[in-house]
Amino acid sequence: MGDKVVLAYSGGLDTSVAIRWLKEERGFDVVALTVDVGLDRDRETLQSRALAAGAGRFLWRDAQADFIRHFAFPALAAGAVYQGHYPLATALSRPLIAKLLVDAARDEDAQAVAHGCTGKGNDQVRFDVSVQALAPELRIVAPLREWDMDREGEIAYAQEQGIPVPVTRESPYSIDANLWGRSIECGVLEDPWQEPPEEVFEWTRPLEQTPDKPAYVEIAFERGLPAALDGRETDPVTLVQTLKEVAGEHGVGRIDMVEDRLVGIKSREVYEAPAAVTLLRAHEALEQMTLSRDQRRLKARIAQEYAEVIYYGLWFTAHHQDLAAYVQSTQRHVTGAVRVKLHKGQAVVVGRKSPKSLYDFSLATYDKSDQFDKAAAPGFIHIWGLPVRVQAQAQMLEEDQE
Ligand code: ARG
Repeated sequence: MGDKVVLAYSGGLDTSVAIRWLKEERGFDVVALTVDVGLDRDRETLQSRALAAGAGRFLWRDAQADFIRHFAFPALAAGAVYQGHYPLATALSRPLIAKLLVDAARDEDAQAVAHGCTGKGNDQVRFDVSVQALAPELRIVAPLREWDMDREGEIAYAQEQGIPVPVTRESPYSIDANLWGRSIECGVLEDPWQEPPEEVFEWTRPLEQTPDKPAYVEIAFERGLPAALDGRETDPVTLVQTLKEVAGEHGVGRIDMVEDRLVGIKSREVYEAPAAVTLLRAHEALEQMTLSRDQRRLKARIAQEYAEVIYYGLWFTAHHQDLAAYVQSTQRHVTGAVRVKLHKGQAVVVGRKSPKSLYDFSLATYDKSDQFDKAAAPGFIHIWGLPVRVQAQAQMLEEDQE
């Protein structure tokens, strides 16, 4: 008997062909593992597809709750968004899938793990680096990096080998989806000048078809984590699913960007992330009210660093742990509720409240109840402006005359 490999199986053409290829060309006994992070796929179909392709065993893990709780929500609390736009849905799922691959490999006494990533994307890096961190003894096989079949070649191989491939609705796009968001690449999208055709979107309505009447949602956070929706305590998965529906209905969360991949390529990426976009806006609004100016300034920088850690596949690192500890500490008073108006593609925060609010009406108001000590303002300005005046007189005013 040959070595055993656990393959991260999505049920698509690539990984279905990979099962047969690992078995026939590399002599592996193949275990197919599907990790459900919010796939719109059903277990029975995938199981029979994997077995028909040649897998000796099929495993299914429902990881939706773990994904939201331990990956998506911590990233939300951090405010992690890559290059200003991408809420990192695909990137966040990779370390979790890698962890479950490693667990399965150990359960199954496998010597190797495999994935269906290509040789020029970020996902291969995230999988490989995560597996190497968790289980340095495991071999990693990436069939798509080794064979030189293109899509046509894969289909031909599948036909010749009699693998039932999902050619039901052959899509020119490469799609990855989980509860936090959908990532769409390839096809006409590779021309950055072309508007994404409507067919690439599944979770969000086009603006022309969104309701004229806005929807309002109230999201409550406890210590930086979403806890309730419209006044009702809601578990993380339901909360994200519900927001995905409502916000998607109003066309919120479409993202079209040119992104810098870790491997140095610029690529055009289209995303749908209605829940993530809405939650990020709401969470930030609550931080505006509950964090000091200094906390907000540093946290905004940490957010960028955090996003890069996730994007670059560095989840299982001490650096990530350090950043996470900082973020968690900042969230201890980020408790309260935010009201968001969803309308015509926008998620706009229209109200916020918190028992830990730093907003003080009697300081902010311009009406008679004003408590701010205006008489102290000139003294404050005198000291604040002191270095400015000194430098202006010693250097800047003279420069003007030169
Ligand atoms: N560019 C995104 C990222 O690196 C999305 C990748 C999408 N993957 C896919 N198989 N379509 O996170």
